[in-house]
Amino acid sequence: MSNSEAADAEGASSSSKAEIIKGLNEDLAREYKAIIQYVVFSSTLKGAEYGDIAEQLKVHASEELAHALEVARQIDYLGGDPTVIVKDAEYSQDSKKMLEIDLKQEQETIKHYRERIRQAERSGEFALSEALRDIIVQEQDHEIDLRDALGI
Ligand SMILES: [Fe+2]
Ligand SMILES: [Fe+2]
Repeated sequence: MSNSEAADAEGASSSSKAEIIKGLNEDLAREYKAIIQYVVFSSTLKGAEYGDIAEQLKVHASEELAHALEVARQIDYLGGDPTVIVKDAEYSQDSKKMLEIDLKQEQETIKHYRERIRQAERSGEFALSEALRDIIVQEQDHEIDLRDALGI
């Protein structure tokens, strides 16, 4: 068992519906932030070498909106209130820096969705975990697009 698996096992008993709703609202606030960043970045990204990624970022923006809608629907289904709070969006005038900010955010988002999937499964919320798995596949594609654009 790896360290991270051991840590997961430790937390295995503690996932109430309220905790899942709280976590999903954090995820929703993170999706709002991603929408804002991709809307702005896709329209301001400069440089011929970034031509393709600017188009991809527009696609990311609409996929993040679809994620926000799905997460909000799941929160409502669980009996919670979807948040209206947005996590503070980040911005840089430097194109490379902007892509790095987005990459970091996608990695964070994936990490949090993995944790949410574990919480959902521990609590027997399998429809939720299925929905989150579909979202995470797209977040991983976003991460790959950003890595490719950065050449890493
Ligand atoms: Fe997303
Ligand atoms: Fe994403």
